[in-house]
Amino acid sequence: LKVPVITIDGPTASGKGTVAQQVADALGFHYLDSGALYRLTALASLKIGIDENDVDTLVELAQDIHIVFREGCVRLDGEDVSLDIRAESVGNRASAIAVHGALRQALIARQRAFRVPPGLVADGRDMGTVIFPDASLKVFLTASVEARADRRYKQLIEKGFSAKLDDLSRDLRARDDRDSQRAAAPLKPADDALTLDTSNLDVDQTVQTVVGWFRERM
Ligand code: C5P
Repeated sequence: LKVPVITIDGPTASGKGTVAQQVADALGFHYLDSGALYRLTALASLKIGIDENDVDTLVELAQDIHIVFREGCVRLDGEDVSLDIRAESVGNRASAIAVHGALRQALIARQRAFRVPPGLVADGRDMGTVIFPDASLKVFLTASVEARADRRYKQLIEKGFSAKLDDLSRDLRARDDRDSQRAAAPLKPADDALTLDTSNLDVDQTVQTVVGWFRERM
């Protein structure tokens, strides 16, 4: 029997992470934050000083780094980097290296390894299109640039980072463009995805909608 997977894809700051985590909690499923894998590789590459276009070295790095997700914390080679990977500089670097098909390939097995009973909720850009094409439910979350910039601003301030709303909107657009226009696994809804615009929904309403869709399907 296939282990059920719910994929939640969408643009930067669409609320995927929070929603996916809560859907996983509601169903007692595991949770994969695939963006964290790109962010971890990005952080490691910044620390060592690898060029964002040195694909061979990036691929080696992605294979060599030791990653542990536990109780909401992320460890990179033993160090707690839960906060470091959330910096905008790391997100922007993640988006820059995520264009490389060979790097994406190197991260596939790590992502699929999260699919264990009783089930998985996976969030990212290509969860429904590339990583789990046979998912039980595929959701594509969207929200206006304004709503997303506003959410990202609040998140960053809460975490103690400084942020400017104008800069965030500009970076969001740039990242959306790069993520949706790249040749390797571009950001787009899977053909069989259900799209949900969360501009005017709170987290609870979004979680309830997704859980409802899943229950209808099982
Ligand atoms: O979702 P998050 O903002 O943490 O992802 C950081 C970057 O990693 C994204 O801008 C995107 O370029 C890349 N990414 C990706 N595929 C995924 C998850 C993230 O290309 N499945």
